[in-house]
Amino acid sequence: MELIQTQDYAEMSRVAAEILIKEIKTNPQAVLGLATGSTPAGTYEALIRDHEQHGTSYKQVHTVNLDEYIGLDQSDPNSYKSFMKAHLFNAIDLPETHAFLPNGEATDIQEECRRYDEKIRQLGGVDLQVLGIGQNGHIGFNEPGSSFSMTTHVVELTHNTRKANARFFKQLKDVPTHAITMGIKNILESRRVLLLASGSSKAEAMARLLNAEQPDEAFPASALYLHPHVTIIADKEALALV
Ligand code: GLP
Repeated sequence: MELIQTQDYAEMSRVAAEILIKEIKTNPQAVLGLATGSTPAGTYEALIRDHEQHGTSYKQVHTVNLDEYIGLDQSDPNSYKSFMKAHLFNAIDLPETHAFLPNGEATDIQEECRRYDEKIRQLGGVDLQVLGIGQNGHIGFNEPGSSFSMTTHVVELTHNTRKANARFFKQLKDVPTHAITMGIKNILESRRVLLLASGSSKAEAMARLLNAEQPDEAFPASALYLHPHVTIIADKEALALV
């Protein structure tokens, strides 16, 4: 596990974007695993700036997102599909048909989970998976206690996670109770993982992760100890308790 400490959020975003851009330049047909949330938003901004200034192209890239809420209309501004459009997809030349997210509106959700795993397989797997981390150590929406052997599945969100994500909604009760997420197994199958963390709200989770040194299903991010190529980019505040 490689750890890159940055001064602040801006530097974390820049360093992460540089790694992604290098990946795309070396492998123009890369499959990127993407995450939502405040953490990767700055990285996506840096990708957009680079696309505009240096013309890095996403025409042959494919993307698969980690997760999506169940029960939100895809056009709802809080759906992860809307997030990705607003924060990245609308501003780069990634073809719409190359961008995949689980469909939280599917009538048969179990079938949708199978379909999503199959899609990832058809694409040849994920080359570089971007991850944020929840305050309770969740990655994607794999909450504490999730089995590390699960692929894409439905989760019931914990109260903590709904509370943390409530800032994007009018009120807590508007935050969906369930989501579809890639499983830890999918994340471990990606060829490289980039975990980003910024700010004091992530300090406890980062201390627990970096002190864990072995996988424990009670703390989902610790699964990354089972992965051979993980880079953590975290700012000073996120590493304050390590
Ligand atoms: C959500 C997402 C995660 C994300 C986490 C942290 O629950 N499903 O993928 O890592 O929130 O979000 P933020 O980066 O906004 O702190």
